[in-house]
Amino acid sequence: MAIFIAMLGSALFTYASLSSFKWKSKITPTVVKHCQADETVSSLLAQNPSLSPEEASIKLFGKKEKTGQPSSEADHELSPASAQDLKQALSCGRWGPTQPGELFLRVYHDVLCCLDADPLSGVVSPALIGTHGSIPLSVIAPLVDLVRHMSNVIVRARREVLFASCSWSPSDAVDLISDALKELSRRAGVRGDRVVVKIIFDKAGVKQFVNNHQKVPVEVYSGEKINLPHPDEIPNLDLEVSSLHVPLLGTLHAKFMVVDREIGIVESNNMENNANVEMMTHLEGPVVDSLYDSFLVTWHDALDPPLPTHNSPAALGGFSTWNEPSFQRLFASNDQHVHPDQADAREQQAIVQDGNEAKKHLAPHNPGDPHYDDTIAAEIARVQAMYSPRPGESRVSAINRHLNDTSKSNAEPTGPEPEPGTEFTPYIAHPKEDIPMALVPRRPHGSPNNADAFVPQNEAFLSCIRNAKQSIFIQTPNLNSHHLLPALAAAVRRGVDITYYVCLGYNDAGEMMPGQGGINEAFAAKLYKELSLQERTLLHVHWYTAKDQSKPIHHQFSQRACHVKLLIADSRVGIQGSGNQDTQSWYHSQEINVMIDSEATCRKWREGIERNQNTLTYGRGSPEDGVWRDDQGHEAEGATKPSAPPVSWVKGAVGMAKKLQAKGGF
Ligand SMILES: *[C@@H]1O[C@H](CO)[C@@H](O)[C@H](O)[C@H]1NC(C)=O
Repeated sequence: MAIFIAMLGSALFTYASLSSFKWKSKITPTVVKHCQADETVSSLLAQNPSLSPEEASIKLFGKKEKTGQPSSEADHELSPASAQDLKQALSCGRWGPTQPGELFLRVYHDVLCCLDADPLSGVVSPALIGTHGSIPLSVIAPLVDLVRHMSNVIVRARREVLFASCSWSPSDAVDLISDALKELSRRAGVRGDRVVVKIIFDKAGVKQFVNNHQKVPVEVYSGEKINLPHPDEIPNLDLEVSSLHVPLLGTLHAKFMVVDREIGIVESNNMENNANVEMMTHLEGPVVDSLYDSFLVTWHDALDPPLPTHNSPAALGGFSTWNEPSFQRLFASNDQHVHPDQADAREQQAIVQDGNEAKKHLAPHNPGDPHYDDTIAAEIARVQAMYSPRPGESRVSAINRHLNDTSKSNAEPTGPEPEPGTEFTPYIAHPKEDIPMALVPRRPHGSPNNADAFVPQNEAFLSCIRNAKQSIFIQTPNLNSHHLLPALAAAVRRGVDITYYVCLGYNDAGEMMPGQGGINEAFAAKLYKELSLQERTLLHVHWYTAKDQSKPIHHQFSQRACHVKLLIADSRVGIQGSGNQDTQSWYHSQEINVMIDSEATCRKWREGIERNQNTLTYGRGSPEDGVWRDDQGHEAEGATKPSAPPVSWVKGAVGMAKKLQAKGGF
């Protein structure tokens, strides 16, 4: 711990100003070659399974000395890609039968411009960045409800489970996963086969100063601080656990799962107990090969034995939720003549009805008392039942009960009774659609400076904001990355409507450390100051307000919080994943995000976002400075003044180290 504080301190003292960097606004011929190549990290491993992903990367892209690429301060003023540039970008993806729209293509173009210095800066082989796939299910719900679905997907695995996460501590979430692994082992035993399971998370330790990837020994991962099953409890699984951290600040923050190379899950949640509402997508089709490749790059070390699916790409076809008749039935009411909003409303009401029915005969799927389902449709009904009012219970108290339970922290319900049609609907089913997609992650960057800015994730965010014509919607716990201030202000000046939802007081102590961007209130106030009174009417800052509340609750009370990471540009290009809009996620952590081009999916997401929280109505910030105040003009209880001075680095570093220690790091 002492080493950590000393290094963090000295590094912060030398906190570097951004050196000037020539922004490349062209996709270079080398990048075109990489994107159109047949060879990827995963294809090399398919040919030669004894290669490590690291060796495969070096073969393909050479050895990269990671230097960090600062993005130009003025990059939001860049001239847009020409028609020729867009044509080239189009030729750099494998879109299958899908057709990327112009905005998506502009963003994709800008993402590829980052790859010249480091083709793997997207943590995925360039040939797998631009792809397509489907999203049968999205979840916007308390953390454990996401993990309920993950545990169902795990028990259905037949060959392998690959799972990356960030912080990991004993919790309902971990119990759900451990129960699922035991059940998976039992099922594999019945079939007479074995399943390979690889789990990687971030546990910072001193050994990572030498080697960022550390295998976690059995006695540690089955011990009380991690709580995964002991090999004796899962005789038919080959489980290996690894930890990745790039000191000091290069956290593994990407959270995703790949099962049987057929299903991908990209989620916002960690593995711990907390009060967060989170978001995940369940992906199928060729995009799963991209997630698989990204997992290999993340795992880095040789896979011995080789992964069972090393030679069976998702692109060859296979499992699809759309083949389940019970899933198709969720859309039975859908006909061509119904307006999409009405179709969505009917589907939502059908799910609410299913939940009311399921409550009568289906036991909840709980940690320590699992009840798995064979289909997604059955899962949807079982989870919806938990939100369904019991006899004598109002709708709002049913939600209040569930949020009390899942957050392990009680808050009185202050919110109104939801109208029919606006019930909390955690699992969102999507009708069949093949969608253009791109993976837009970033690599970990350890040094405490903002030098690693020009990376696929950040360019995807910035390019959406640069190129949107009508609107930008963002939900994120913290929004304070310094590149966002000029970009958002410029978009407003172009007449783009900006709405963002953030969490009041989220991680304030950390955000107030020098160079960390400051608290949400301070950033919002700064942004409003940049704008004229007229321009301010286009900026809407809202503070997360839970579905059972009529006001935001400050994060220090740990009662209701939001950890969704979502950006929607012009109601059709969406970016969902692990990346926050704060300094840590923009310049340091490894992140994973999937960008999609679909009006229908973005509409369903936004409807779910509004339905499952009261932020739109009750979380509205002041139109002068963005700060939330009640009818009497009082700020929320516990709110930090936007003008509060930054925390000293000593105090901040000690606080950060203590937090890591409490979670079992160091
Ligand atoms: C949730 O907790 C609050 C605060 O203790 C309590 O007033 C409320 O009744 C609880 N909700 C339910 C449904 O029990």
